Amino acid sequence: MPRVLLTGHLGQLATDFKSFLPSSELVLTELEDLDLSHRDEVLSFVSSVQPELIVNCAAYNRVDEAESRPEAAFAANAFGPRNLALAAEAVGATLVHFSTDYVFDGPQRRPYVEGDLPCPRSVYGASKVAGELLVRASCSKFFIFRVCGLYGYAGSRDKGSNFVETMLGLGGQGKALKVVDDQFLTPTPTLDIVEAVLPVIESKKYGLYHLTSEGACSWYEFARAIFEEAGLEVELNPVSSGYYKTAAPRPAYSVLENGALKAGGFPDLPHWREGLRRYVRGRAEHGRG
Ligand SMILES: NC(=O)c1ccc[n+]([C@@H]2O[C@H](COP(=O)([O-])OP(=O)(O)OC[C@H]3O[C@@H](n4cnc5c(N)ncnc54)[C@H](OP(=O)(O)O)[C@@H]3O)[C@@H](O)[C@H]2O)c1
Repeated sequence: MPRVLLTGHLGQLATDFKSFLPSSELVLTELEDLDLSHRDEVLSFVSSVQPELIVNCAAYNRVDEAESRPEAAFAANAFGPRNLALAAEAVGATLVHFSTDYVFDGPQRRPYVEGDLPCPRSVYGASKVAGELLVRASCSKFFIFRVCGLYGYAGSRDKGSNFVETMLGLGGQGKALKVVDDQFLTPTPTLDIVEAVLPVIESKKYGLYHLTSEGACSWYEFARAIFEEAGLEVELNPVSSGYYKTAAPRPAYSVLENGALKAGGFPDLPHWREGLRRYVRGRAEHGRG
């Protein structure tokens, strides 16, 4: 196994990466050790570590807050990956970077393919597009994986939890809940992302990949499935996006087609419902519930 630098290692996706990679070859960083927006520090740190692979799980994911803090969003999501890409190029490493379905604006009703032009609706989405472009421009051996609706046992660092845990917490209190039914996505467990990414990295078929579970649903359908899988009776009502005012507009439809993955002959990820079932069944083992 090559030496791997894993950034943002306390986040939910990185936590699952750590369970798949041998700890003896892992170098871990967090914001407090290494702010990725500081170019010279990143170049010097990567030069001292000499990794063969850099997996960047760090990001500024506070989608609503980013509307009023664009500098912070671009520092982490655009200049951070750019600095890692420059450093990767300097030491001959491969960079694995994660982007988002929010690079799209969502007027269409067919899954977005890698060739579709990004058109973000939010500062967060724009900062992630900028990160993608700067990675492409700055290093030769890169993978960009656009993922969607992530949930992992560790919970998102920026959000403090994930949608499944939030729903189970609220549902367990016996309250009636309202969830939007006019935004469509593909919820994807972080463990399934890691399992799918590893063979792609090994293949050295560099480039841009959409990477989500199979299928799609609205947030309302996702919430209903969560309660079904957990065996909870909850009064759940659909509402439109206008009901919850958010600072950042969301795409109404941001389902991704894993076109490059399929074209490369890699295995499909499980259907989102199957991924959810496995997540709910594994909660106790991972200290949840
Ligand atoms: N969560 C989703 O639903 C979702 C959807 C689409 C795409 N993605 C993408 O998937 C990837 C993984 O997301 P995740 O949910 O696992 O993230 P996460 O749990 O929020 O973790 C992100 C980590 O990055 C760190 N970080 C922030 N700014 C940094 C900087 N300037 N330098 C170094 N570290 C910094 C954060 O540290 P602090 O906590 O100390 O700030 C945090 O530990 C990200 O690229 C994200 O944009 C996520």
